[in-house]
Amino acid sequence: MRTLSYRHTGVFDRFRFGAAYYPEHWSEEERQSDPERMREAGIDLVRLGEFAWDLLEPEEGVFDFHFFDREIERLQRAGIDVIFCTPTAAPPRWLTRKHPEFLRLNAAGAFMQHGSRQHVCTTNAGFREYSRRITAQIAEHFKAHPAVIAFQTDNEIHCHFDYCYCPACQQEFRSYLQKKYGSIDRLNRAWGTAFWAQSYRDFSEIELPKDQAPTWPNPGAMLELRRFHAAMAARYQHEQVEILRAANPRWIIFHNGLMGVVDYRGAFGRDLDLIGFDCYPGFVFDAARRPVRHAFTLDRARAIDGNFIVPEHQSSFGGQNGYVHATPEPGELRQQTFRSIAHGADSLLYFRWRSCRFGAEEYWGGILDHDNLPRRRFYEVAGIARELQALAPYLQRSEVRTEVGIAAADADAEAVHAIYPMGLPSPDAVAEELHRAFHLRHYAVGLVHPEDDLAPLKLYFLPHWELVSPAAAANLRGFVEAGGTLVIGARSGSRTADNQIIAEPRPGILTALAGVTVEEYGKLIAGDPHSLQTVELNEQPVRAEHFYEVLIPEGAETVACWNSRYLAGKPAVTVNRLGRGRVHYVGSYLTGPLLEALIPLLSAAAGLEPVLPGLPEGLEVIERRSACGRLFFGLNNTESTLDADQLPGRTLVGPEDGRLAPYGVRITVLPA
Ligand code: GAL
Ligand code: ZN
Repeated sequence: MRTLSYRHTGVFDRFRFGAAYYPEHWSEEERQSDPERMREAGIDLVRLGEFAWDLLEPEEGVFDFHFFDREIERLQRAGIDVIFCTPTAAPPRWLTRKHPEFLRLNAAGAFMQHGSRQHVCTTNAGFREYSRRITAQIAEHFKAHPAVIAFQTDNEIHCHFDYCYCPACQQEFRSYLQKKYGSIDRLNRAWGTAFWAQSYRDFSEIELPKDQAPTWPNPGAMLELRRFHAAMAARYQHEQVEILRAANPRWIIFHNGLMGVVDYRGAFGRDLDLIGFDCYPGFVFDAARRPVRHAFTLDRARAIDGNFIVPEHQSSFGGQNGYVHATPEPGELRQQTFRSIAHGADSLLYFRWRSCRFGAEEYWGGILDHDNLPRRRFYEVAGIARELQALAPYLQRSEVRTEVGIAAADADAEAVHAIYPMGLPSPDAVAEELHRAFHLRHYAVGLVHPEDDLAPLKLYFLPHWELVSPAAAANLRGFVEAGGTLVIGARSGSRTADNQIIAEPRPGILTALAGVTVEEYGKLIAGDPHSLQTVELNEQPVRAEHFYEVLIPEGAETVACWNSRYLAGKPAVTVNRLGRGRVHYVGSYLTGPLLEALIPLLSAAAGLEPVLPGLPEGLEVIERRSACGRLFFGLNNTESTLDADQLPGRTLVGPEDGRLAPYGVRITVLPA
């Protein structure tokens, strides 16, 4: 299995551009002209077969590839390649009828039923046999097909359903625990079952834990529940990947996400050639915030394994029964596409080629509307494809420049917070706020796992990760000793891998690094005049949020103190010099006014410079570098015309003079 890194670059032969295509939704007449029109739109890759199990195996054991063979032949004639999918997110009716025991069971005890999707339990050994069989048939059928270049496994695993309580999951959970803990005593100690008389005498006594049944469950058990379901997802996918790789080792294999309760940096992601990120910026209704949030989600995807594919990119109006997201205005889709590329997409497919006239997603807009007429989106997409021609060669093997790293992409770190949030912001929420602050100031910010390669970074944030592995702590030390600036937020290092609270003073495993211990902590209550609120930083009172810690320096120097009530004068922010670098410990949350006040101090300490000097506010600038040269992406995120003439080199996309209208994009290259 591979090691993953945010520094990895893509695996496609060239930048691929296309759409998710469901020919099974269209008549022969409508399908006939599709490949030619796709060509007109500049498409060279489509994704097929995602939910078409009923067409591929209409009856148990009867496989039929006529339909797709014909469609692929047509596409091939137009020079369009194919990603095929394992169609297992939509098991057909003959299967659920024969095996109602495969259906998922929710926490309330209700079985899912046939009629939507992801209704079958992927832990179930019987179902996995069907999954392997359809995968093997598809793999065998297409293994020598020159147009089939890649595979997507299933669809957005755990999108609609993660915690299954069916008998198969129950059984597997016990085996999983037995294998992990070996003896029931070890499990009892790890979970702390002495609390509320939960001790077990045998693995067979353990049930899948449920939230609020009737009150808060055991945190150790809940963490294992998440790890278990993530492990089941990885095992299920692995069985498909193995079959696909054996059939054709040249196939590029990915999965589309990103969802909760999947460990993308664990076995699940290591099994794949690259990460797939389904990108729907329109879920943010606030237009002013949409570009920043979009950038964050892209950087979060890149944190897992570097450059990625966008198997689904919002193209238009879209929603399901209960909601509709924001519709891209003219030029917005183009800008979003180039933003996705700037932040690491190495291939991109729109969702979807054409809006379907029926089914649960009849209002998910495609490049073409229900009436199949080409309108402005079609022409916008065709224009993007033309612009990509100049850009594509420089994208190959290029890496997004990253100098500020924020800890992310760890399933356990998110899980322990989700299991015990106490109303505090999640690591992900704080990462987003930090990202936004640096991104808007034109710094080359990215999200990076603490066990990843930290060498290119100048500044690194570990915001409030209660669970920090020994490997991460050692890697952070190496980063600091080599000259890096590390910032550790409150509550870091306070849990064990079993999800208990540590027995040592905080920050536990990070104490030597931070050169402080935490003497006392408490809640900051917003708006309460009697609560502690402020830190004195550079002789200014600065409002802190959510949480306070009183620090006892053990080698570190005090940078800022609390300045109210009984804590007045006690250390709140410290710095510890170590090797050639330094560690700042912040005894509060890295959010709000305190974060804003700390940024100049931390950026100066780390010697951080913006991507380019003199950039105007609202101009997003991202650099991607390769051996061929440096690419600069400039995106106007404001409502007025901006100058983007600071971008050096030759213009590949957008106006030569650098005058950018709203939604404008300019991309330049400085050849190596
Ligand atoms: C994705 C999913 C697609 C489609 C799309 C629009 O999450 O992978 O199959 O459902 O959203 O809802
Ligand atoms: Zn199940």
